[in-house]
Amino acid sequence: MQTVSSVAAMQKLALPAKCSGKKIAFVPTMGCLHEGHLSLVKVARKHAGRGGIVAVSIYVNPTQFGQGEDFEKYPRDLKRDSDLCAQAGTDVLFAPTDDEMYPGRRNGQFSTYVVEDNLSLVMEGVTRPQHFRGVTTVVAKLFNIVLPDVAVFGAKDFQQAAVIGRMIDDLNFPVKLVVAATVRERDGLAMSSRNTYLNGELRTQATVLWQSIKKARAAIATKGKIQAVTLKEQLRRFIEHAPAARVDYIEFFDPTTLQPAYEAAKGVQMALAVYVGKTRLIDNAKL
Ligand code: PAJ
Repeated sequence: MQTVSSVAAMQKLALPAKCSGKKIAFVPTMGCLHEGHLSLVKVARKHAGRGGIVAVSIYVNPTQFGQGEDFEKYPRDLKRDSDLCAQAGTDVLFAPTDDEMYPGRRNGQFSTYVVEDNLSLVMEGVTRPQHFRGVTTVVAKLFNIVLPDVAVFGAKDFQQAAVIGRMIDDLNFPVKLVVAATVRERDGLAMSSRNTYLNGELRTQATVLWQSIKKARAAIATKGKIQAVTLKEQLRRFIEHAPAARVDYIEFFDPTTLQPAYEAAKGVQMALAVYVGKTRLIDNAKL
């Protein structure tokens, strides 16, 4: 595995590879890698095909964190992540610094953003108003640096994958989006770098997200359709029964448009964000 930290070096490697017909399959991450990330690398390996290149980026992107969020304390361990990437079959690890990604930002010389103006506005976009602007901007930059044919994102961040899909279509990025299934712990908790913030009792209570998805599925299985407001309220009470858990949102919506569904029923997508202590966790699933 080759590790590259400059934009110029990454482009210098990607462009001739692409021109010679090699497929580049790309997994953007913020590091603190877990089995969820590594499953995306395996999916990327399949899409790169024989002779293709699997590229992984590790970059904690400042522009997608809001004031008071965990940018500073976000876990960073490049040595560990680099070993995991190599074991998982990565060919190129792109790990830039802030100065490399946003050279002008410190003195106000960064002023171009990519804004998706529809799918970004609901759910995560309500609680984290600048978040998707940061995500689309950095992913657009990464696409211009890594020049991927295929980009693999996780279904764990369902809305993020939808926003990136829209950006690819709207801005004509020659990139195929692949969305890979959510990897879970044995008790159902979706793997996340932020799970490292949870110890003991909080970690136990974090299972309420997955349990509430299972409850919603069970309710649909017995009743067929349920008014979204009714089911939301039942799930909120269930979740907040755990003393450290506080619901940010529970939504039922159309998986393509992200528009709210007034009835929870088979095929409807469910997503939720819950604070467990100070840690904000998200999860989603199709009902
Ligand atoms: P990060 O949270 O590190 O996630 C990187 C990728 O891993 C995302 O596509 C995410 O959906 C996927 N992922 C995370 N947990 C997963 C799980 N349990 N199962 C399957 N996939 C999982 O998402 C970001 O970083 C950033 O916003 C980024 C796209 C890199 C832009 O900065």
